[in-house]
Amino acid sequence: MLGAAEVAIPIWDEKLSTGIEEIDIQHKELIKRIDELKKSIYGGNSRNEVKKMMDFLGSYVMEHFDAEEKLMTQADYPDISKHREEHKKFKKLYSDLVIEYDKRGGDYYFALDIHKQLIAWFTKHLLEIDAAYVPFLEKKF
Ligand SMILES: [Fe+2]
Repeated sequence: MLGAAEVAIPIWDEKLSTGIEEIDIQHKELIKRIDELKKSIYGGNSRNEVKKMMDFLGSYVMEHFDAEEKLMTQADYPDISKHREEHKKFKKLYSDLVIEYDKRGGDYYFALDIHKQLIAWFTKHLLEIDAAYVPFLEKKF
Protein backbone atom coordinates (compact mmCIF):
# COMPACT_ATOMS: atom_id res chain seq x y z
CA MET A 1 0.00 0.00 0.00
CA LEU A 2 1.16 3.52 -0.79
CA GLY A 3 2.14 5.88 1.98
CA ALA A 4 1.13 9.52 2.33
CA ALA A 5 4.58 10.61 1.14
CA GLU A 6 3.85 9.04 -2.25
CA VAL A 7 0.50 10.70 -2.74
CA ALA A 8 0.06 11.50 -6.40
CA ILE A 9 -3.27 13.30 -6.32
CA PRO A 10 -4.13 15.57 -8.14
CA ILE A 11 -2.01 13.98 -10.85
CA TRP A 12 -2.81 10.53 -12.11
CA ASP A 13 -0.07 8.04 -11.49
CA GLU A 14 -0.01 4.38 -12.47
CA LYS A 15 0.45 3.63 -8.78
CA LEU A 16 -3.19 4.67 -8.36
CA SER A 17 -4.37 2.08 -10.86
CA THR A 18 -6.84 -0.49 -9.59
CA GLY A 19 -6.26 -2.61 -12.69
CA ILE A 20 -9.97 -2.33 -13.51
CA GLU A 21 -10.40 -0.13 -16.57
CA GLU A 22 -13.89 1.16 -15.75
CA ILE A 23 -12.81 2.27 -12.27
CA ASP A 24 -9.50 3.77 -13.43
CA ILE A 25 -11.30 5.86 -16.07
CA GLN A 26 -13.65 7.20 -13.39
CA HIS A 27 -10.79 7.92 -10.98
CA LYS A 28 -8.83 9.68 -13.75
CA GLU A 29 -11.84 11.85 -14.53
CA LEU A 30 -12.21 12.78 -10.87
CA ILE A 31 -8.51 13.70 -10.57
CA LYS A 32 -8.74 15.76 -13.77
CA ARG A 33 -11.74 17.66 -12.38
CA ILE A 34 -10.00 18.35 -9.07
CA ASP A 35 -7.01 19.67 -11.00
CA GLU A 36 -9.25 21.90 -13.14
CA LEU A 37 -10.77 23.29 -9.96
CA LYS A 38 -7.28 24.04 -8.62
CA LYS A 39 -6.26 25.79 -11.85
CA SER A 40 -9.42 27.89 -11.79
CA ILE A 41 -8.64 28.97 -8.21
CA TYR A 42 -5.19 30.16 -9.30
CA GLY A 43 -6.70 31.72 -12.39
CA GLY A 44 -9.26 33.69 -10.40
CA ASN A 45 -12.24 32.18 -12.27
CA SER A 46 -13.30 29.48 -9.86
CA ARG A 47 -17.02 30.32 -9.66
CA ASN A 48 -17.79 28.50 -12.92
CA GLU A 49 -15.60 25.56 -12.02
CA VAL A 50 -17.22 25.21 -8.58
CA LYS A 51 -20.62 24.92 -10.23
CA LYS A 52 -19.23 22.29 -12.65
CA MET A 53 -17.66 20.38 -9.75
CA MET A 54 -20.85 20.38 -7.68
CA ASP A 55 -22.85 19.07 -10.66
CA PHE A 56 -20.18 16.51 -11.47
CA LEU A 57 -20.01 15.21 -7.88
CA GLY A 58 -23.78 14.90 -7.77
CA SER A 59 -23.78 12.30 -10.53
CA TYR A 60 -20.29 10.97 -9.91
CA VAL A 61 -20.86 9.91 -6.32
CA MET A 62 -23.90 7.97 -7.40
CA GLU A 63 -22.50 6.36 -10.54
CA HIS A 64 -18.91 5.72 -9.49
CA PHE A 65 -19.69 4.47 -6.00
CA ASP A 66 -22.43 2.23 -7.42
CA ALA A 67 -20.01 0.83 -10.01
CA GLU A 68 -17.44 0.03 -7.31
CA GLU A 69 -20.00 -1.51 -4.99
CA LYS A 70 -21.35 -3.69 -7.81
CA LEU A 71 -17.85 -5.01 -8.56
CA MET A 72 -17.13 -5.61 -4.88
CA THR A 73 -20.40 -7.53 -4.55
CA GLN A 74 -19.58 -9.67 -7.59
CA ALA A 75 -16.12 -10.39 -6.17
CA ASP A 76 -17.49 -11.23 -2.69
CA TYR A 77 -15.15 -8.62 -1.27
CA PRO A 78 -15.14 -9.25 2.50
CA ASP A 79 -14.83 -5.57 3.50
CA ILE A 80 -17.67 -4.29 1.35
CA SER A 81 -19.76 -3.00 4.25
CA LYS A 82 -16.84 -0.97 5.58
CA HIS A 83 -16.25 0.41 2.09
CA ARG A 84 -19.94 1.21 1.69
CA GLU A 85 -19.81 3.16 4.96
CA GLU A 86 -16.99 5.28 3.53
CA HIS A 87 -19.06 6.01 0.44
CA LYS A 88 -21.97 6.97 2.68
CA LYS A 89 -19.70 9.39 4.54
CA PHE A 90 -18.82 11.09 1.29
CA LYS A 91 -22.48 11.31 0.28
CA LYS A 92 -23.11 13.05 3.61
CA LEU A 93 -20.15 15.39 3.03
CA TYR A 94 -21.51 16.16 -0.43
CA SER A 95 -25.01 16.95 0.82
CA ASP A 96 -23.49 19.26 3.47
CA LEU A 97 -21.51 20.99 0.71
CA VAL A 98 -24.69 21.43 -1.35
CA ILE A 99 -26.35 23.19 1.61
CA GLU A 100 -23.26 25.38 2.04
CA TYR A 101 -23.13 26.11 -1.69
CA ASP A 102 -26.80 27.13 -1.76
CA LYS A 103 -26.14 29.52 1.12
CA ARG A 104 -22.79 30.99 0.06
CA GLY A 105 -22.63 30.42 -3.66
CA GLY A 106 -19.38 29.32 -5.27
CA ASP A 107 -17.14 32.10 -4.06
CA TYR A 108 -13.35 31.93 -3.98
CA TYR A 109 -13.24 30.72 -0.37
CA PHE A 110 -15.80 28.03 -1.04
CA ALA A 111 -13.70 26.89 -4.02
CA LEU A 112 -10.60 26.70 -1.81
CA ASP A 113 -12.58 24.89 0.84
CA ILE A 114 -14.04 22.18 -1.37
CA HIS A 115 -10.73 21.72 -3.18
CA LYS A 116 -9.01 21.06 0.15
CA GLN A 117 -11.75 18.69 1.28
CA LEU A 118 -11.81 16.77 -2.01
CA ILE A 119 -8.03 16.33 -1.99
CA ALA A 120 -8.08 15.12 1.62
CA TRP A 121 -11.01 12.78 1.16
CA PHE A 122 -10.04 11.21 -2.14
CA THR A 123 -6.34 10.93 -1.34
CA LYS A 124 -7.20 8.72 1.60
CA HIS A 125 -10.00 6.95 -0.24
CA LEU A 126 -8.06 6.08 -3.40
CA LEU A 127 -4.80 5.19 -1.68
CA GLU A 128 -6.18 3.26 1.27
CA ILE A 129 -9.83 2.29 0.93
CA ASP A 130 -9.94 1.58 -2.80
CA ALA A 131 -6.44 0.09 -2.85
CA ALA A 132 -7.61 -2.51 -0.32
CA TYR A 133 -10.05 -4.14 -2.76
CA VAL A 134 -7.56 -4.38 -5.63
CA PRO A 135 -6.11 -7.82 -4.75
CA PHE A 136 -9.63 -9.25 -4.37
CA LEU A 137 -11.04 -7.79 -7.56
CA GLU A 138 -7.91 -8.63 -9.55
CA LYS A 139 -8.61 -12.32 -8.99
CA LYS A 140 -12.16 -11.97 -10.30
CA PHE A 141 -11.92 -9.60 -13.26
FE1 LIG B 1 -14.50 3.59 -3.20
